[in-house]
Amino acid sequence: MNNIEEQNPIGPAILKKEMSRRDFIDWVIKGGILATLSGMLLPALAYLWPVMGHGPKVDMEEVAALEEIPVGASKKIVLAGSALLLIRTPQEIKAFSAICTHLGCVVDWDGRKHEIVCPCHAGVFDLEGRVVSGPPPRPLPSYLVKVINGKIYIKL
Ligand code: FES
Repeated sequence: MNNIEEQNPIGPAILKKEMSRRDFIDWVIKGGILATLSGMLLPALAYLWPVMGHGPKVDMEEVAALEEIPVGASKKIVLAGSALLLIRTPQEIKAFSAICTHLGCVVDWDGRKHEIVCPCHAGVFDLEGRVVSGPPPRPLPSYLVKVINGKIYIKL
């Protein structure tokens, strides 16, 4: 027996009860701190989760499945009222406005020549959207593309 037990006439049962009350208060305090931290951290982590590469950014739109566009092919889509041209290269998916910067005709992808062509006045753009020839005054606007789990996402 130690000195405390010898001085306490009731015995070690009371000491155990006091210890469990302290433990309980410790757990209440620790639980409160944990709940407070969780309440602050979980919303922040939920917001950052897509940015960490596990999903699309919140402001990106899923527009197609990767398998819909074979390598070397293209697909036209309409997103938020804008016509877009998606082109799949061996390395990536590129997205451009499908509206020619000359007079607004809809451009096409020529997979044999690897050029974006405008049928109205023979405007030609390269795979970066730059004007190669013809009257278009500016490059085609391009858009950020991400491919996640076989889905194509675009940010307008
Ligand atoms: S509208 Fe495209 S070249 Fe004129």
